[in-house]
Amino acid sequence: MNVLLIEDDDSSRKSMKRFMESKGFSVTTSKNGKEALGELENGEIQLIVSDKKMPQMSGIEFLKKIREDGIKIPVIILTAFGDIDSAVNAMQLGASHYIQKPVHPDDLLLKMNDIIEREKLTSELQYLRKELDKATCFNEIIGKSAPIRKVFDKIKMVGAAKSTVLIQGESGTGKELVARAIHKCGPRKSKPFVVINCAAMPETLFESELFGHVKGAFTGAVDKKGLFEEANYGTLFIDEIGELKRDVQVKLLRVIENKTITRVGATVEKSIDVRLLAATNRCLENEVKSGNFRSDLFYRLNVVCINAPPLRERKEDIALMIRVFTEQICEENNMAVKTVDPQVVDILTNYSWPGNVRELRNLIESIIVLSSKERIAVDDLPANVRGETPDDETLFFKPGMSLAELEKKAILFTLKRLNENRSKTAEALGVSLRTIQRKINDYELQ
Ligand SMILES: Nc1ncnc2c1ncn2[C@@H]1O[C@H](COP(=O)(O)OP(=O)(O)OP(=O)(O)O)[C@@H](O)[C@H]1O
Ligand SMILES: [Mg+2]
Repeated sequence: MNVLLIEDDDSSRKSMKRFMESKGFSVTTSKNGKEALGELENGEIQLIVSDKKMPQMSGIEFLKKIREDGIKIPVIILTAFGDIDSAVNAMQLGASHYIQKPVHPDDLLLKMNDIIEREKLTSELQYLRKELDKATCFNEIIGKSAPIRKVFDKIKMVGAAKSTVLIQGESGTGKELVARAIHKCGPRKSKPFVVINCAAMPETLFESELFGHVKGAFTGAVDKKGLFEEANYGTLFIDEIGELKRDVQVKLLRVIENKTITRVGATVEKSIDVRLLAATNRCLENEVKSGNFRSDLFYRLNVVCINAPPLRERKEDIALMIRVFTEQICEENNMAVKTVDPQVVDILTNYSWPGNVRELRNLIESIIVLSSKERIAVDDLPANVRGETPDDETLFFKPGMSLAELEKKAILFTLKRLNENRSKTAEALGVSLRTIQRKINDYELQ
C-alpha cells in the first residue's frame, strides 16, 4: 500500500514515516499541500495522511483541490487537539477520517486499516456489479427478462449465419441495437456496419444513395459508391424499411436475388457480398395485405424475424435500466452517481412507456440534468408519468356526457390501472367477468 504523508514538522514526519514503514506501508512524504500535488501525478498513491496546518497550502486547501479535480484517493486529516470545526470541515470536504494531534500510533494504524478495508469492499462491490451487469447486458442491450433473453438467444443464433433478418418492434424498443449486436456476433464484425434510414431519405436520392451512380448519370454527377458498396463484406442495416416506395422495393429485391448492383447510369453490374438486416416499426405483414409492401420482398427479408418486445411487456427490466442509465448519464456528465427513490422505481415500473426504452432513457437524462439533488424523488417526475392525468382520468366526467360514454371511460381507465386484467376490472367495477368482456367487445376497447 502506497501512502503519501504530508506534514511540515520534520520530526513528526520522520517518526510517522518510520512507524508506517514498520507496519509494511511504503511511504512518500511532502512538506506541504503544494509539494504533495506533484507527488500525485504518477498515480501510485493509494492513501493520503495530511496535517491540517501547513505553510503554502494547508491540508484543507489540498483536500478541496484534489476533490475538485476528481481525485478520489482516501484522505486522513490531522487536526489540532480540540479543533472540532476543522475536523467537521474536513469531513464535509470528503476526508475519510480525521485524527486529533498528538497522533497516537495505534489510532493512526486503526484508521488506516479501516480505510483499506473499506476500499477493498468498494472495489469488490464494483467488481461484482460489473459481473452482474455482464449477465444482464448483451452488447449494450440491457435486460434480464424472459422476452429480452429470447432476443439475446436469437441474436447469438443468427449472428454467425448470413441470413437476412427482419427486426420488428415499436419505436424505441432497441431495434438498431439488435441490428448492431447481430453484426458484432458474427464473422463480419470487423467489416463495415452501414445504416440507411428510409424514413429520412428523400425518395429521389434513394437509388443513387443505395446503389451509387456514375459520372454523368445526372447533371453534375461524379462517380460515387453507394451504401451497398460501402457495406461490402459487412452488413447493411436498412432501417424503417416499411417506408420504402414500391419502385425501389423491386430494385432491392433484384439485388438480393442476384447479389449484384448496378450504379445509376451504369451498364455493368458489380457483384457484392453484403448481409442485410432490416427494421420496421410497422407490421410489415399488414403492409403486404394492404398492398403497400411487395410480398416477394417481404418473404426475402423475413427469413428470420426478431421481435423487439415493448417495454411494458418486460417490466422486470425497468429497475435494472433505471440503475444502469442513471450511472451512465451521471458519468457522461461528470456527476457523482445519484440515487433513485424506490417509490420512483415503482412508479416507473408501472408506467406504460409508449416511447419504450428511448422514452425511459430520455426521462432519466432530463431529471438528472435538471435537478441538483442527489436523490431522485417522486416530485421530480412529470405529472403524466406519476399517473396524474387530470384531463384524461380523474376529471373525465363532464356534466351532460352520455351514460354510455361514462361507462366506456370507466372501463377503459380501470383496465389501464389494473394492467389490462379483466377479472380484476370486473371486480373493481362490481360486475361479472362476462359483462366486462361483453362491454369490452361492444365498446371496441381491445
Ligand atoms: N435494451 C436496451 N438497453 C439499453 N438501451 C436501449 C435498449 N433498447 C433501446 N435502448 C436505447 O433506446 C434508444 C432507442 O433505441 P433504438 O434506436 O435502437 O430504437 P429503435 O427501435 O430503432 O427505435 P425507432 O423505431 O424509433 O428507430 C437508444 O438510445 C438505445 O440506446
Ligand atoms: Mg431505429
